[in-house]
Amino acid sequence: MNFSKILLLLTTGFSVVSFGITGCTTPQQNSEAETQQPAVIVQQTDTPTPTTTAQPQERPGDVPYVPTPQSVVDAMLKVAKVGKNDVLYDLGSGDGRIVVTAAQKFGTQGVGVDINPERIEEANQNAQKAGVSDRVKFVQQDLFNTDLSKATVVTLYLLPDVNLKLRPKLFKELKPGTRIVSHAFDMGDWKPQQTLNVDGKTIYYWVVPENIPTNLQ
Ligand SMILES: C[S@@+](CC[C@H](N)C(=O)[O-])C[C@H]1O[C@@H](n2cnc3c(N)ncnc32)[C@H](O)[C@@H]1O
Repeated sequence: MNFSKILLLLTTGFSVVSFGITGCTTPQQNSEAETQQPAVIVQQTDTPTPTTTAQPQERPGDVPYVPTPQSVVDAMLKVAKVGKNDVLYDLGSGDGRIVVTAAQKFGTQGVGVDINPERIEEANQNAQKAGVSDRVKFVQQDLFNTDLSKATVVTLYLLPDVNLKLRPKLFKELKPGTRIVSHAFDMGDWKPQQTLNVDGKTIYYWVVPENIPTNLQ
């Protein structure tokens, strides 16, 4: 799928089937930086002015940057019933709006993971502006190499094939009872517990079961 089709898919949320396409197999580049470098964590600290030690992007991202509209962010957090005892991971966190909103409105601890250093820098600035830098951190890292074991809520706005590629990792690393919310794209055979429509965008909601059904393993 070419770059403009992927952007259209993200902005409209139309299923790949509606394009007559069976999957997105070509990773898309969302940054000019392509240098092969190890991932480096850019951590937010309690200090008012964070030190940014951004590294060149380790590889092109799997999904271009398109932000979730704020009304959809609010609905995603509401359906997951996030609270102050939650640890929310946004995989592909963009400008950090989901993590920052959860911290600001619900006191949630949050981790945003993005492969693009520009997004990490923006997210850190947004956390600082919102006054939630003590509760959130943004990590420059490939989401497929991120340890998810501490998450109680996971949010996604990726692409259909990326969700499917991620599914085994979610089942392996997330505790039973962890809530997952995805903007626009589902998880194939893993049927959501709830599907919502907000301002023309679809939101899917799952809870990780105690036992993973055999057809999904
Ligand atoms: C569609 S945007 C979603 C941004 C944000 N979650 C939101 O909903 O507003 C997808 C984000 O995923 C990031 N991304 C793409 N591939 C990634 C990967 N393999 N690991 C981490 N981040 C990735 C992109 O840089 C981009 O910021």
